Amino acid sequence: MSAEKNGIKEKQELIRKLKKEKGAVILAHTYQSPEITEIADIVGDSFALASKCAALSEKTVIMCGVRFMAESVKILAPEKEVFLPAPSATCPMAEMISPERVHEYKMQHPDSTVVAYINTTAALKAECDVCVTSSSAVKIVSQISSPEILFIPDKNLGAYVQKVLPDKNIVLWDGFCPVHNGITAEDILAAKAKHPEACVAVHPECRPEVTALADMIGSTAAIIKYAEASEKPVIIGTERGVVDGFLSREKGSEGKYIYLCPERLFCRNMKKTTLDTVIDTLEGKGGESVTVDEELRIKAKKSIDAMLRMG
Ligand code: 13P
Ligand code: SF4
Repeated sequence: MSAEKNGIKEKQELIRKLKKEKGAVILAHTYQSPEITEIADIVGDSFALASKCAALSEKTVIMCGVRFMAESVKILAPEKEVFLPAPSATCPMAEMISPERVHEYKMQHPDSTVVAYINTTAALKAECDVCVTSSSAVKIVSQISSPEILFIPDKNLGAYVQKVLPDKNIVLWDGFCPVHNGITAEDILAAKAKHPEACVAVHPECRPEVTALADMIGSTAAIIKYAEASEKPVIIGTERGVVDGFLSREKGSEGKYIYLCPERLFCRNMKKTTLDTVIDTLEGKGGESVTVDEELRIKAKKSIDAMLRMG
């Protein structure tokens, strides 16, 4: 075993020990690196993380992900202490619209329903009617009957929902995920030319011209399920954590069935959480205990509760 691998194993052992001593639970998004997902108690997409947190018995939660994920846990389970090991890990898309702008829109369009992707700040969630995740967006929007739906902030996820539900009148905001929006149709066509035997699975945060080339469009968890079941090789268009995690579980088939497209796909915010930041958090030397103003929390909880009910 290399010295580096050995160091990783030792750090992971230390985390397991500290976690037990502190009575903490570790949640990790699937975009985290394999060394983080290996020490997590729950690994999942945004919907899984939000829906499982309230039932946990542990009072301390370490959220290996980005800020809105830690905020969502705090909104749903305020009695828990929720730590973000890398306090600067934010999602740029979460702030691509201001709460004031949403409020103004609602005043001008009183008959519309505001749907917010869960990748938003607590202040934005407090202004909207219902939250969605990539895995629940179609199901939830299909249940909304208002004449107009404002979908914030991701224009690509909103456009995907509109395509699946042509009868809905969806107004799109101009936000996007810099990672998924960076995948181009040319990237997919080049990967298909290189691996003509493969099928293509992409995240709905990708541009419409990219989703149009895909055999499957789904959330992080759905892509993993699809790749695991696929008899054919799969070209995957989402953050590299999905591919790295898959390959680390499927030892021996490295690079054989799964291709990341394009290879540069990397969310630098998701990768700010490291074993060292988790150790520092558990030792009380780092991380941030995330707080949400109580008035804001109660308002924001309504939209997450609506998501959990409808999704
Ligand atoms: P999901 O976890 O819903 O697939 O979303 C992906 C994402 O970009 C999270 O930041
Ligand atoms: Fe935000 Fe995109 Fe990173 Fe997810 S992958 S945290 S949406 S920037």
